[in-house]
Amino acid sequence: MIQTRLTERFQIKHPVVCAPMGFVAGGALAAAVSAAGGLGIVGGGYAGTAAGEPDLERELNVAKSGTFGVGFIAWALESAPGMLTRALQHSPSCVFLSFGDPRIFAREIHAAGAALICQIQSLSQIGMALEAGAAAVVAQGTEAGGHGGARSTLAFVPEVADHLKRHSPETLLLAAGGIGDGRGLAAALMLGADGVVVGTRFWASSEALTPKSHTDKAVKATGDSTIRTKALDALRGMPWPKEYSFRFLRNRLMDEWDGRDEEAFRGFGVLAARYAQARAENDLETVAVVCGEIVGLVEDRPPASQIVHSIVTQAAGLLRNGAALKFS
Ligand SMILES: Cc1cc2nc3c(=O)[nH]c(=O)nc-3n(C[C@H](O)[C@H](O)[C@H](O)COP(=O)(O)O)c2cc1C
Repeated sequence: MIQTRLTERFQIKHPVVCAPMGFVAGGALAAAVSAAGGLGIVGGGYAGTAAGEPDLERELNVAKSGTFGVGFIAWALESAPGMLTRALQHSPSCVFLSFGDPRIFAREIHAAGAALICQIQSLSQIGMALEAGAAAVVAQGTEAGGHGGARSTLAFVPEVADHLKRHSPETLLLAAGGIGDGRGLAAALMLGADGVVVGTRFWASSEALTPKSHTDKAVKATGDSTIRTKALDALRGMPWPKEYSFRFLRNRLMDEWDGRDEEAFRGFGVLAARYAQARAENDLETVAVVCGEIVGLVEDRPPASQIVHSIVTQAAGLLRNGAALKFS
């Protein structure tokens, strides 16, 4: 229904990409999104370097029923580069890298015939993505769930669009952060994107690996309920580069630590054991329920195919009929 350079180049029906959410986007979700005409990307997360990550080989085998990609957190992949090699043996159509330098991995990805997608959080990172030969750049706004930066989608996407137009017109642009329905897709296309990367909305889909208790909490939340902070990674001892912060639902632990990032860095890892214990006990007043501001629009946990369908149908209607304005 909506054809863009993304649908043409990636040979997909709809310009909707499922974000490679670590611990969440397994093979079943990626396969469901691709079967519905979007592009599903398996979340390789920390490349097996973090406790409790799903087995990537198993998830890739499930995803392989159709077109699929794989994504990694680039700074973590540096300590486990063999994971990329193993993932490429499954012939993903693309590799999605975020949060680090994609140039280190670019040659291997290109040699395997996969398209490179680089997610960026600030304009200063776009040079690395273009040097790495990215087929698509994802401009991720701060509204996004999970890790991210400080730029907002509405201003960041058109700025990246203009930059690409001037310096690399062949490179596709995807928008991410706060896009969960057809209004978001239509708006992103208006801002100059060729498609969207959707995380939180698919996080609450029936195929996602998200624990039910997390989405049960999320459906009661509003967009006001999320927090973006650096404190949690420091407290639980995850060595995230300092430019990235983490968005998730505010809870009791964050009521305590909000605004105390520097103190948290000084006590790096001090809550690692407590956090692991809370995860085992599913204590959501300590453990992060990871979703973005668009959680305010999430009221259910439908199949991913339904989400893809409703996003594109609504966007097509809006684009066809225009916004609810009266022109004289
Ligand atoms: C639960 C969750 C986990 C995420 N994990 C990753 C990840 O492992 N790697 C990554 O590049 N992005 C990750 N992201 C961010 C997404 O790539 C994407 O930018 C974001 O979800 C888009 O914003 P939205 O959540 O508002 O749709 C994650 C997002 C969520 C919600």
